[in-house]
Amino acid sequence: MAGLGAAAAGGAALVVRPGDPLPASFTSLGTGEATIGFHGPRQAGVTTEPPAHAAFVALTLNRGSDRDTLRRMLRLLTDDVARLTRGEPALGDTDAQLAVLPAALTVTFGFGPGLYQAAGLTSPVADLPGFSIDRLQDRWSGGDLLLQICADDALTVTHTQRMLIKDARPFAAVRWVQRGFRRSPGVHAAGFTQRNVFGQLDGTANPKDAAMETAVWAPDGSTTLVVRRIRTEIETWDLLSVADKEAAVGRRMDSGAPLTGTAEHDEPDFTAVDDTGLPVMPDFAHVTRAHMTDPRFKILRRPYNYDEAPDSAGRPDSGLIFASYQADIARQYLPIQRRLAEKDLLNEWTTPIGSAVFAIPPGCSEGGWIGERFLDS
Ligand code: HEM
Repeated sequence: MAGLGAAAAGGAALVVRPGDPLPASFTSLGTGEATIGFHGPRQAGVTTEPPAHAAFVALTLNRGSDRDTLRRMLRLLTDDVARLTRGEPALGDTDAQLAVLPAALTVTFGFGPGLYQAAGLTSPVADLPGFSIDRLQDRWSGGDLLLQICADDALTVTHTQRMLIKDARPFAAVRWVQRGFRRSPGVHAAGFTQRNVFGQLDGTANPKDAAMETAVWAPDGSTTLVVRRIRTEIETWDLLSVADKEAAVGRRMDSGAPLTGTAEHDEPDFTAVDDTGLPVMPDFAHVTRAHMTDPRFKILRRPYNYDEAPDSAGRPDSGLIFASYQADIARQYLPIQRRLAEKDLLNEWTTPIGSAVFAIPPGCSEGGWIGERFLDS
C-alpha cells in the first residue's frame, strides 16, 4: 500500500515503495493500514461502513467561478483523494508521513446548488424548505462543495482536511467544518449499531442490502445528501426517567428494541395497544412518526455525534451531525422531515441549527475525476 516516495518539502524523503513493508514506526494492528477503494461507478463513504471520525467540510466557490475553474479544482482534489485513500501522500504533501496510515479513509464529494449555478447547469438539489422547529445558523448552513472526510483515525482526517483545503484555496473559501465521531474500532463487535450522545442505539432501522440499493442509489450511480446539525438539549433530556426517554423514541434505551418487542431488530407493531387501549408505540414517538412502510422511500442515516467545549456554566454543546443519503430528497427525506417537524416528542430535546443539501455525483475510474461526466459534457 503506502508510498512515501513523493519527497516532503524541506527534508529527506522517507521512501516506502508500494508493497514494501512499512517502517517500524508505522506498524499498526490492521486498522491503520485499512483502505477503501476510491475508484468506481459510485463514490465511497455512502454505503460503506461509517468509520469512527468525520469532518464535513463545506466550501464556497470564489465569485466568477465557471466550468473551467471547476474542472481544474475537481481534477486536483480528485487526484489528492485518489492518493490519500491509498495511503500515499498528496502531490506536494508537506507532512507525507501523516498519509501513511489511511485507516479506511474515504472522501465523498457533494455538489451544492451553487456549484451547478456556477457551471451554468440546473441543480438536481435545492435547499430544504424552512420548518417550524428550525433555528438555523448561517455558520452551519449551505455550501457549494462538500468534502465528507471519514476515517478510523482523527489524525488521518485532520491531515486529509488540511491537504484538501490547501489545494482548494485558489478556488474556494471554507464555509463551515463540522467534526464528528462514532464508536471507535475494537470497542464493539463488527456489525454493531452505534450509540448517539443521548445514549440511544442509532441506525437500527436503516435499509440494508437490496432495500438500501434502491433507497440510496439512482441508476447513474449518484445519490443525494442532507446534512442537518441538530443540537441535543442534554441537560433537560437528563431530567427524564428511562421510561419517558423510551416513550419519546418508541424504543428501549438498553437493547434498542421497539416498545412492542424484545430484541433490537424486532419489527415495531404500530397497531398494538396496552390494557387501557392506548398504542404501545406512542403516536408522537420519533420512530412512529419517522417510519416509512414502503422500502423505496426509506433513507440511509449515517450520522456522527459532535461534542464541542461546554459553556462557562458547564452546559454541553453536543448533538448530531445528522447525515442522510437517499436517491430523491423530495420523495424520501421531505415527507419524513415534515412529519417530524409537525409532531415528534423528540423535538422537545433537539434543535436543528444547520442545514445543507448536496448532490453526490457518480464516482470515477482511475485517471478520471469527480464531476467529469457533466462538467465535460
Ligand atoms: C438529534 C436528532 C435525532 C435523534 C437523536 C434521532 C434518534 C433516532 C433513534 C434513537 C432512532 C431509533 C433507532 C434507529 O432506527 O436508528 C431513530 C430512527 C429514525 N430516525 Fe431519527 N433521530 C434524530 C433525527 C432524525 C431526523 C432529522 C430524521 C429525518 C428527517 C430522522 C429519521 C429517522 C428515521 C427514518 C428512523 C427510522 C424509523 C423506522 O422506520 O423505524 N431522525 N432516530
